[in-house]
Amino acid sequence: MRLAWFFGYSSALVLNPSASPRRTAQMSAATYSIADQQARFARAKEEKNERFLDITTVFDGEYLRDKRVVVTGGNRGLGLEIVKRAKECGAEVIVTCRAGAADVEGLATAYEGVDVTNLQSLTDFAKRVVEEKGPIDVLINNAGYFYGPQEKVIEGTLNFDEQWKQIDICALGPLRVTSELFNAGGLKEGSKAVIITSQAGSVEWRFTQNPEGGDYGHHMSRAACNIMGALLSQELKSKGITVLLLHPGFNKTTMTKKYEHIWEIEGAVEPSQGAMRVLHEVGAHGIEDSGKFFNCEDGLQIPW
Ligand SMILES: NC(=O)c1ccc[n+]([C@@H]2O[C@H](COP(=O)([O-])OP(=O)(O)OC[C@H]3O[C@@H](n4cnc5c(N)ncnc54)[C@H](OP(=O)(O)O)[C@@H]3O)[C@@H](O)[C@H]2O)c1
Repeated sequence: MRLAWFFGYSSALVLNPSASPRRTAQMSAATYSIADQQARFARAKEEKNERFLDITTVFDGEYLRDKRVVVTGGNRGLGLEIVKRAKECGAEVIVTCRAGAADVEGLATAYEGVDVTNLQSLTDFAKRVVEEKGPIDVLINNAGYFYGPQEKVIEGTLNFDEQWKQIDICALGPLRVTSELFNAGGLKEGSKAVIITSQAGSVEWRFTQNPEGGDYGHHMSRAACNIMGALLSQELKSKGITVLLLHPGFNKTTMTKKYEHIWEIEGAVEPSQGAMRVLHEVGAHGIEDSGKFFNCEDGLQIPW
């Protein structure tokens, strides 16, 4: 069985003892989460880490009450669950989606026809939402895309069109959304711009999670996303706007269906749990943490 996958590589240290055990040990320090996803989940169970194993025991979404929250790609998957939870917590929720506004009826105001790769659709959305609703307290850049097949140089399976598409959606997408909203007056001092990225964008963790390489388009798109988020945080700090980069954990969604066989081994959760993890992390950090990259499973940082 091929064991390299995009969110983790549970057997990395067993199959490849030279796959940087020193790095992994360093990352076990309290500030950082650990790269080996199976070991991370096993440790959480051993330590009976409630924060990791059952987010409902610590979740407090009170900070969302009466806040205006935008979720991109909020029509399904993790995004839809974030919408539901934010609404339950008393937020006024706004969804952008390409289609599927009916799926959020009664939960959120939906702006359809918004594609994160289409600048004009974002310019129009930003103008309308600011006119109709006012400034946004929490922007959650959730829309994302992961090409299905594995990409390998030595197997001749690179797909450059798909690589561009992932970079366009996952790296340029959140930059376009945030920039358009900011320039329309939709992000103000005190606002948070959250970027749902992935641990897959951590270069450091590739040495543990991808000992055989591969997954070029998706992982490159998230590395680009991460450096974009770091730069954005530096720029928006002067405006009092917090930028957070969040790995949402491993969620049982359409995107990860191809990894269904490892869901239980690697601690994948229902997206309703993942949504709570994300919103918990958003509430836990302010401007002092702007530009940092957190793992919503354990609240620890992920190295670049
Ligand atoms: N699931 C996980 O374990 C996991 C782990 C790490 C990171 N993430 C990230 O978490 C986010 C949510 O993931 P998910 O598992 O919920 O994925 P999903 O079920 O595949 O949903 C993806 C969402 O993104 C939207 N989207 C895709 N391309 C878009 C575009 N060009 N413009 C606007 N919206 C677009 C989709 O809209 P349509 O309905 O129009 O396709 C859908 O709403 C993604 O950014 C993903 O990369 C997920």
